[in-house]
Amino acid sequence: MSKIVCLGVHILDVLGRPVTRIPDGQNIDLLEEIRFTVAGTAAGTAIDLAKLGADVIAMGALGSDHIGDTVITIMQGYGIETRHLVRKKNVQTSATMLPIRPNGERPALHVIGANGEFGLDDVSWEAIRSAQYAHLGGFYLLPKLDGEPAGRIAKFCRDNGVVSTMDVLGVPRDDMLSVVAPSLPYLDYFMPSIDEARMICGLSDWRDVCKFFIDHGARACVFKMGANGSVYADATGVTLRVPAFQVKVVDTTGCGDAYCAGFIVGMSRGWDIEQSMRLATAASALVATGLGSDAGIVDFETTVEFMKAAQTLPMTE
Ligand SMILES: Nc1ncnc2c1ncn2[C@@H]1O[C@H](COP(=O)(O)OP(=O)(O)OP(=O)(O)O)[C@@H](O)[C@H]1O
Ligand SMILES: [Mg+2]
Repeated sequence: MSKIVCLGVHILDVLGRPVTRIPDGQNIDLLEEIRFTVAGTAAGTAIDLAKLGADVIAMGALGSDHIGDTVITIMQGYGIETRHLVRKKNVQTSATMLPIRPNGERPALHVIGANGEFGLDDVSWEAIRSAQYAHLGGFYLLPKLDGEPAGRIAKFCRDNGVVSTMDVLGVPRDDMLSVVAPSLPYLDYFMPSIDEARMICGLSDWRDVCKFFIDHGARACVFKMGANGSVYADATGVTLRVPAFQVKVVDTTGCGDAYCAGFIVGMSRGWDIEQSMRLATAASALVATGLGSDAGIVDFETTVEFMKAAQTLPMTE
């Protein structure tokens, strides 16, 4: 079984549904469901990877608080190695409140907390070297790693034969390209959503967006396009377009994280790129069927069964 490091953003999500408004004054609205989940571009992917049967090492920063304890308890419950999660003093564990609308939309209220303190000194290079894959998740919300430090991690992966994947949390700002540019020449798979990729490069057609990042050094781009599926393009000129699967959407929180997990698991089992994209698509579709970034996926076998049986959605671009 492949060992996979998930390095970056760790968040406790508190989700409630369905939410149509914030009650007036100090009134109470009643919801059907409230959940706590471990989420974020590193931790959410770590949970999905573990459910899909991978051997996962979590790397990131938590506060010395009950939220951090909860994150560790939940991750250990899935068999994830948590000893490389550092506990920071005087800062809370990162958390998000997500009032989920009846149509599945997910406005978010977020505290950066300990993710803002995670730096190169907290990285366990030996643990990365021991892995076959490293998923770097959450750039733009990791101020001490964004930019050159992340580039050093990506280079370390390349130098040590560890396949690297990167997802981001696109927070609009002027210097978006300079944050990912130092990593791109060392990245095997750059995996943001197409909206984030567009935000970074300022281009709109997905073909131009793929070319832009390949020209900046990425070996391959895998862009997630929501209900429009996903696209792969690499430096050798291969382009693949995979449609999303049709599901009854409850909440799309964590679909992108699940996509990354499914893709890595497919690759680590020796599947080709297109089949890995289909497993990624199945994992992400399942996550959309329930509340929270850990919903829907049960294990590898049922995800593959879903992948074989599900209907695809039409692609509009
Ligand atoms: N409404 C939907 N129906 C079916 N599949 C969906 C839907 N929304 C997302 N997906 C699946 O999830 C994948 C990833 O979703 P998306 O493109 O929203 O990523 P993301 O923006 O990175 O998500 P996240 O906010 O979780 O990081 C898509 O490629 C698609 O396969
Ligand atoms: Mg995303």
